Amino acid sequence: MKKYLVAIACAATLGNARAETVSLSSLDLKLATAGWGHAVANASCTTSKLSIAGATFDNGVGTHARSVMFVKLDGGATRFHAIVGIDDDNRGHGKGSAIFRVIGDGKTLFKSGVKRSDDKGDVIDIDVTGVRTLTLLATDAGDGFSFDHADWADAKFEVTGAKPQLVSVPAEEAVILTPPPAPAPRINGPKIYGARPGHPFLYRIPCTGERPMKFSAKNLPDGLSLDANTGIITGTTPARGEYAIAFVAENSKGKCERAFKLVAGETLSLTPQMGYNHWYAHYNRITDAMMREAADIMVSSGMADVGYQFVDVDDCWMNAAGTSKYQTDPKRVGPLRDANGNILPNAYFPDMKALADYIHSKGLKAGLYTSPGPSTCSGFGGAYQHEEQDAKQFAAWGFDFLKYDWCSYGHIAGKKPSLDDMKKPYQLMGDLLKKQNRDIVFNLCQYGMGESWKWAKEVGGHSWRTAGDLGFELHRIIDIAAKNAEIGAFTGPGGWNDPDYIQVGWIGSQRGGGFQMPHPSELTTSEQYSFMSLWCLLPAPLFYSGDMTRLDALTISILCNPEVIEVNQDALGKAARVVKLDDDAFLMIKDLEDGSKAVGLCNRGEIETEITAKWSDIGIAGKQTVRDLWREKDLGDFENQISMVVPRHGVAMIKILAAK
Ligand code: GLA
Repeated sequence: MKKYLVAIACAATLGNARAETVSLSSLDLKLATAGWGHAVANASCTTSKLSIAGATFDNGVGTHARSVMFVKLDGGATRFHAIVGIDDDNRGHGKGSAIFRVIGDGKTLFKSGVKRSDDKGDVIDIDVTGVRTLTLLATDAGDGFSFDHADWADAKFEVTGAKPQLVSVPAEEAVILTPPPAPAPRINGPKIYGARPGHPFLYRIPCTGERPMKFSAKNLPDGLSLDANTGIITGTTPARGEYAIAFVAENSKGKCERAFKLVAGETLSLTPQMGYNHWYAHYNRITDAMMREAADIMVSSGMADVGYQFVDVDDCWMNAAGTSKYQTDPKRVGPLRDANGNILPNAYFPDMKALADYIHSKGLKAGLYTSPGPSTCSGFGGAYQHEEQDAKQFAAWGFDFLKYDWCSYGHIAGKKPSLDDMKKPYQLMGDLLKKQNRDIVFNLCQYGMGESWKWAKEVGGHSWRTAGDLGFELHRIIDIAAKNAEIGAFTGPGGWNDPDYIQVGWIGSQRGGGFQMPHPSELTTSEQYSFMSLWCLLPAPLFYSGDMTRLDALTISILCNPEVIEVNQDALGKAARVVKLDDDAFLMIKDLEDGSKAVGLCNRGEIETEITAKWSDIGIAGKQTVRDLWREKDLGDFENQISMVVPRHGVAMIKILAAK
């Protein structure tokens, strides 16, 4: 008996020896976010002594709502203690209020009522054993965040293992939502497709399923022929008119037939373009060999099987006049044009026609970039005063897409260009491209100046950037999508708002100056799924701009879900509308051709939350069948509404169809 008691006493002593108190204020508070100023150690957010309803504290953290701190505990802490309330530095204003929440791995462990100035602090003393990420949140209590000086007084952890660490984003697992493609054929891609009569036609039927596969087509117009093994259709676009074709794909596991309407006429891009653009991965390092590799991978990875089609070279394929900040490689320096004024590719692009031919040989399309100014954004040769010659050259090489990037045209148009000045270079190139003997999709890149969405189609555009480079604004993807939705009336068949490229997986950056090598995206898994979901709902052109050589299972899951892409490629081409539910949650609703609705339940908040989509918000009634598009899974029939748990910065994407 005696022995037994001694043993217990030893364990307790040992346990106490290991337990340690770590105060929140000792962590790296730079990684906390605050609605005003920043989180301050051992003082209020205005740096006065921490004080709640007259009680003062030497230790703690002063923040300003809306504020969030993600504390990585990794199971190393047992208790969290704090006293929360509005700081007295706010007295007299009488307006401050906040709600405090503590969340452990998505579960709310503490939630205060509305705390106002002069309210006594709430004491938090909770068990956090086993918690990996503890989220400390102070929200604005719904009345705006003015004077919401939210204190976490005397905040501390009892720690027995790993030391707590503040992190800027909580860790998320790389969840694969998209089921692997079934072995039986499934034909993907748009159901409607525009091409101009008499021009070369090229279309690779996007189709998942085991190879070998036999392709055939019903009612294929004269002048077109289909390679039964590859599913690549070539030939000459027939006379103006609509052609109701049906594609058929068959393998040992099954057969699939799908309608495809070819509209031979003046309008291209009846659905948003899909493809790859090299910019955000390879910048000024791009070479012919890398572009060919991207085309190879577009096919081998399965991207082409779900509809990716364009393989687009961005800036830096031409010569530059000299080295500069963005152009340090002497092998890319040389004369901009030959004696006849023809644009000269640099040494890394030995044969532009051969490159386009190579891309075409895979059934894919080739895209190119230039600027209406004398030089491109990265200082390479632009098209200024050679527009006609360049348009002819691009067509002769065989390019199917041109991105036209304003940049140095600013020097020509002057500091305050009029709307006409802004349109002029695009009208010129738009007209020239129409005159070529091949279909060339025209992308305006002028960052949305002069509300380009209102006139870009008039000047021949098939898509137009709506803002600056998303590369610098990645943390705002949800806001950018919401902003694009506001101008949704200007997007549709033939011309699309373009919020810039999809950046998931391995991407580069321009942080710290220069063009950084690709690295894993800093976006969380949920943010990457949101990126794709929002671009599909808008709907926006889908250009992947990461490193094709580093496509991993998560990136493929995000890029290649055929049901999610189908929303983007829907023939109606309708933009999603936004219904705001609260500060953090909103719905994006897109009408689809078959009468169903695609709905994004979007959470821009800092914690996982349940979002309810009410039929009345969506404009439907009665019993509805709901399908989870990412998981490709029916959820069943629902009356009046559906609620889904959506992760921090995540989007749940569903399709709703009246139940039979
Ligand atoms: C601009 C464009 C980018 C890219 C670069 C190339 O910044 O917006 O998309 O084309 O130029 O220099």
